[in-house]
Amino acid sequence: MGMTNWSGDFEFRSPARIVFGVGTVERVGEIAKSLGSKTPLIVTDPILHEIGLTEGAEKALRDAGLSVEVFSGIATEPTLESVENAVDAFRSADRDLIVALGGGSTIDSSKSVSLLLVNEGKLTEYHQSRVGTDWTPPRKIEKRGAHIISVPTTAGTGSEVTAGSGVFNPDTGIKGWAGDPILRPSVAICDPELNATMPPNVTANTGADALSQAMECYLVNRFKPTADTLAIKAIEVIGKYLPKAFANGQDIEARSAMLWSATTVGVAFGNGGLIHNHTYSEVLGDVTHLPHGRLLGIMLPHILDFNFPGCHEKLADIARALGEDIDGASTRDAAEMGVIAVNRLLEEIEMDDKLSNYGVTKAQLQTVAERVWAQHGPRSALSPRAFRTFDDVMDLLRQAY
Ligand SMILES: [Fe+2]
Repeated sequence: MGMTNWSGDFEFRSPARIVFGVGTVERVGEIAKSLGSKTPLIVTDPILHEIGLTEGAEKALRDAGLSVEVFSGIATEPTLESVENAVDAFRSADRDLIVALGGGSTIDSSKSVSLLLVNEGKLTEYHQSRVGTDWTPPRKIEKRGAHIISVPTTAGTGSEVTAGSGVFNPDTGIKGWAGDPILRPSVAICDPELNATMPPNVTANTGADALSQAMECYLVNRFKPTADTLAIKAIEVIGKYLPKAFANGQDIEARSAMLWSATTVGVAFGNGGLIHNHTYSEVLGDVTHLPHGRLLGIMLPHILDFNFPGCHEKLADIARALGEDIDGASTRDAAEMGVIAVNRLLEEIEMDDKLSNYGVTKAQLQTVAERVWAQHGPRSALSPRAFRTFDDVMDLLRQAY
């Protein structure tokens, strides 16, 4: 962080309690009890339930003397309906705590379930407007719902420690975002063994999410030394271990390193923010339904090219974090080495950088560009290089096509 000016001010919110390590899922009973629970509900998706990934948590909760129920109806792309079904399951079975066991979709859904248990109105009223420069939702979240213990089975979104919840509204075709510290899980149990079932393409997608979130957070123009320290260390660890986790999913050390990275990046960007790789990939996700992390991996090289003129020093830091020998290089040359190192890492996990190779159509680009342009303001203000015209948004998309 060579260029940090130490005279700035910042705010850093501490994350949830994090319990990390192989076998820690066995502590879920004791932890649920410590939160006052007698009747926890495990919230998960049908596949994880079917392959038995919830069994360890179920047993641990039962062994602690708690009454356990499982709701396994979370959709891969969480919808208002699957959230409402989980709310009904929670109420009808008289539950008092949520164990959110799964990927980002499951943990995000659980936050919205907790929200709806105690706050009035519809979930969509709590969603950010994502238009213009003021994203304030129509309604503020007033009350804290049931405690959530998050148990991530992927290493990517960081949802296990963040305060945001994205849920898709099929009526509008838009994933809406609710966010408030009230939504943050109370405890994150990060057990790397639960990540070992991820197939290589999911490891790549979720790993690209962690990488992009770390890089976007680091590139945000804001004084945030604590978030930056976490983000740059995570970039270093992801650079070393994402290819290993991709090559061999049973490599528990690599799974552990990636899970630490993803969770740490969640803490970082929850404080530092994100830039336009997420704007594009969120909108592209709504329009194409390709996985969030895959879209981030496709777009990241193009986002870096666009922002390059505004962030030589930070890209040089990233080069060093990714193991490049930048001693003696000019800052600009070191920045180029950083971009090359990121692209090489993405190639190693078999990320293609062209949207057209994933079935995206030219007609979809126009829709995506219009929606990105409509909401670019807040993130442009924090980016190394802002979008000034609609053509900036469209040109970048064309380059990625
Ligand atoms: Fe993300």
